[in-house]
Amino acid sequence: MTGLPDPALVVLVGASGAGKSTWAGAHYRAQEIVSSDDLRAIVGSGRHDLDASTDAFALLDQIVAARARRGLTCVVDTLGLDPQRRRGYLAIARAHAVPAVAVLVDAPPALARKRNAARDRPVPADTLRAQLRRAAQVRDELAAEGWDQVLVVTAAEPAGTAAAPAAAAAAPPTGLEFVLQISRVPWADDPTGWLRGMAQAAAEAGFAGVALMDHLIQIPQVERAWEPIPEPWVTLGMLAGLDTGLRLGTLVSPVTFRAPGIVAKTVATLDAITGGRAFLGLGAGWWDREHAAFGLPFPPAAERLDALESAIETIRALWAPGTKAFAGSRVELPETTCYPRPVSDVPIIVGGSGERRTLRIAAQLADGCNLPSDEDKLAGKIAVLRAHCAAVGRDAGEVAVTVLDLPIVGRDRDEVWQRVETLRGRTAAATFAERRHAGTYEQQRERYRRLAGLGVRTVFVSPPHLRTPGDVLALGAMVRP
Ligand code: CTP
Ligand code: MG
Repeated sequence: MTGLPDPALVVLVGASGAGKSTWAGAHYRAQEIVSSDDLRAIVGSGRHDLDASTDAFALLDQIVAARARRGLTCVVDTLGLDPQRRRGYLAIARAHAVPAVAVLVDAPPALARKRNAARDRPVPADTLRAQLRRAAQVRDELAAEGWDQVLVVTAAEPAGTAAAPAAAAAAPPTGLEFVLQISRVPWADDPTGWLRGMAQAAAEAGFAGVALMDHLIQIPQVERAWEPIPEPWVTLGMLAGLDTGLRLGTLVSPVTFRAPGIVAKTVATLDAITGGRAFLGLGAGWWDREHAAFGLPFPPAAERLDALESAIETIRALWAPGTKAFAGSRVELPETTCYPRPVSDVPIIVGGSGERRTLRIAAQLADGCNLPSDEDKLAGKIAVLRAHCAAVGRDAGEVAVTVLDLPIVGRDRDEVWQRVETLRGRTAAATFAERRHAGTYEQQRERYRRLAGLGVRTVFVSPPHLRTPGDVLALGAMVRP
């Protein structure tokens, strides 16, 4: 929205009437802005009660420090013209490792005077003159003070245009494909109605497909164990009967659940009845509890990874044309009679980011890999994948990089932070917000552009707060080109 770091300690600087409070209000939540005028009204008789300044600023300093300590954004709405106070804020930001930003709101003196005159309690003319003189010098001072960023806002334009830079940045996240991963299934007493609504909303919002998790018990990362988590291939079969054009598949099916040949049969059938819209996420499985509960063996990781390799080989053999015998490096089949055949090249996406084996399996045998969307780790993982591709002699372009993204999103800062507060549990809000990439649709688009720049082709999106088709439709603001 502003191109500024977030969280940040943002210190406004500018004469009275320059437009500081207006700018802050257009970009931040009311609770993030701490204003000396507001605090004067709280500890004194009103916004202009100068006798209350000492008390107001003592409170202000305390609030700034408290928010910085929690890693929360704080916008200091004071004149900001006193270098000593600015140094104090900078020190607080440094002490808590929060980026420090100065925003100089620079209105032409004539405009500031005009706005001042229009106010019900104008600042005395000589006071404003002194402020405007200070404001003219302050730009150089800011440059020398060591701020992480100094933003100059020219407030000549009306308040409504404050969002203009954001609109300019709203170009579509180029070349990316979005698939909605539905991980919570609050279908209450109308499973088909709910599923139909969610899928139709996904198509309308601009998603290319829908992915379902494949778990026997709802996983603790998502919800409580007794929430419904339907068998995905049956559920996808129902979605296949809708007229949506969505691609349908799992993210991801553990190879430990079903014999690979059965998976080949299931997915080939889904592909045939959808006219080529199936995809298959496959992984080694990780959750011992669901295996134990359903009477399934859960061998050690190395064996499960071996099983993943041979499963891909089996599935590909059964999807290939013809019925001839198959002798691969891991599997032998006396015949490969599997009808219906898939009608498309069903992509197999290997989930997991283990660098030594999982990514090697993806490089060697899969059409895509699925990695966590954290930017700090992603470039490294992609580099490992590419190295594996080179080592096995495969063109890196043949293995699509996909990510699983679980962001907290909302239409504005208020909605985003309301969701953070609802969902964070006992995790500190700033930590949770960072971990879950909390941000507006616009900020997510910005992030997706960066992911695309790293080489990501598909984003599986699963915001934790989706409950209704309306929630899915709202995501159109984020994914539609
Ligand atoms: N204003 C405007 N267009 C802008 C910015 C401000 O019309 N782009 C108007 C506001 O509506 C307000 C006046 O200018 O009536 C002063 O703006 P404000 O944001 O209140 O200025 P501040 O810098 O916060 O002034 P002060 O230091 O007195 O709080
Ligand atoms: Mg103000």
